[in-house]
Amino acid sequence: MSIALLYERSENDENGIKLTAQQLGIDLTFLPFRKIALSISRDGFTAKTKGKDYSSIVKDTAIVLNRAQSKNRRLQASYIMEQLGKKTLNSSQIEFVCYSKLRTLFNLWKEGIPIPKTVFVPCDSTDATRNGKEIHNEKDIAELFQNEIPLSEGIVIKADAGTHGKMIMLSKSTDELIANIKETKPSIINPVGVVAQELVEKWFYDLRIIVSKEKGKPAVCYPTAMARAGFKDFRTNTFLGNLVFGAKLPLSIQELAVKCGMTLGEGSEAWIFALDAMVNIKDNKSVDDDYLKAELDKAGQAFLPVQKVKQDEARLTDFQAWNNKLEKAFQGYADSESYGNIKHIIEESVEKNKSALVFHESNSCPEFWENTRLATGHNVAVTLLKGAQSLIDS
Ligand SMILES: Nc1ncnc2c1ncn2[C@@H]1O[C@H](COP(=O)(O)OP(=O)(O)OP(=O)(O)O)[C@@H](O)[C@H]1O
Ligand SMILES: [Mg+2]
Repeated sequence: MSIALLYERSENDENGIKLTAQQLGIDLTFLPFRKIALSISRDGFTAKTKGKDYSSIVKDTAIVLNRAQSKNRRLQASYIMEQLGKKTLNSSQIEFVCYSKLRTLFNLWKEGIPIPKTVFVPCDSTDATRNGKEIHNEKDIAELFQNEIPLSEGIVIKADAGTHGKMIMLSKSTDELIANIKETKPSIINPVGVVAQELVEKWFYDLRIIVSKEKGKPAVCYPTAMARAGFKDFRTNTFLGNLVFGAKLPLSIQELAVKCGMTLGEGSEAWIFALDAMVNIKDNKSVDDDYLKAELDKAGQAFLPVQKVKQDEARLTDFQAWNNKLEKAFQGYADSESYGNIKHIIEESVEKNKSALVFHESNSCPEFWENTRLATGHNVAVTLLKGAQSLIDS
């Protein structure tokens, strides 16, 4: 019985998992989960692509490491594999919760974990009547939000199942709010209703914190988080061109992150989450923004060689050699003076404002090879593989 890596396309994360498995001496099989026919009938179950029959591989699989990228496919994959008697990392229950920012927040809130105030209105921005007319609900929804969150402080509208900062919109006036609500038509990344959140007065960064649990062991928080930082936008996603830094976490935040993990992973023997958190520091800034912007510009320059390696197509043909180049380039960036300065400012600001931290999202299948691993020094592939291994019944 073996561990299968279920994936859609072999990207850097998947190649990184393969490479790490080799280094750890862990056997992996592979399940492409896209153009595959999963068939159930009186005759049993089969799984076939055009070129290959995967049925026996599925049969011999005990644990599925689920790396399907689309949230929908990932949820479907975990559920199907569980129906076939496999254990999954993460479980379908976890995928169901993390699929939705709102469901995640409800789970955290219930346990008393700090979150940004969040308001959900189940009604969609427009409804279509049978005779083809449109009913507009934007103004009513806007009013409901404004009754809960003062508009003067900013209201963030977000696609409940979005990623990469897509459809995260800030409104500071009623017109903006109505226009942003209009954008939230029911879609795959916002299946139902509209979610709004108070604007957290973070500074120039947010945090990505890795927590995990192996079967039979206590949950752990990795002590260094990845800070995503920049002034480009109020959204600090790396996808939007922001920079990454390692940031050592105060113990109290590590403990809180473990509590988040235990809550979201309830009922599962092993799990991993990348928790997104913001620090509501308001005016509690230790240096002025102009100095920071200049330092970030310098760090941006130091980051250019990393970006160049990332774009190098050599990763497709010789992943290991490409990865060596990537690690070397990142080390150059991390050794730069501006990197050290900004890292220090972030760590100091997190320490001083640790009681103002809020968790706003949990990623059940985080990207890690290019940023999180290098910024934190922690190879998440090891956590994934050890977690999967721990699930194998001895
Ligand atoms: N309530 C808020 N107040 C202030 N900033 C916010 C708020 N919500 C989100 N942001 C900013 O927008 C970014 C994206 O938000 P969020 O993590 O909710 O969305 P996402 O698209 O799912 O991101 P990811 O790519 O991490 O999955 C955050 O990293 C943060 O910088
Ligand atoms: Mg996020």
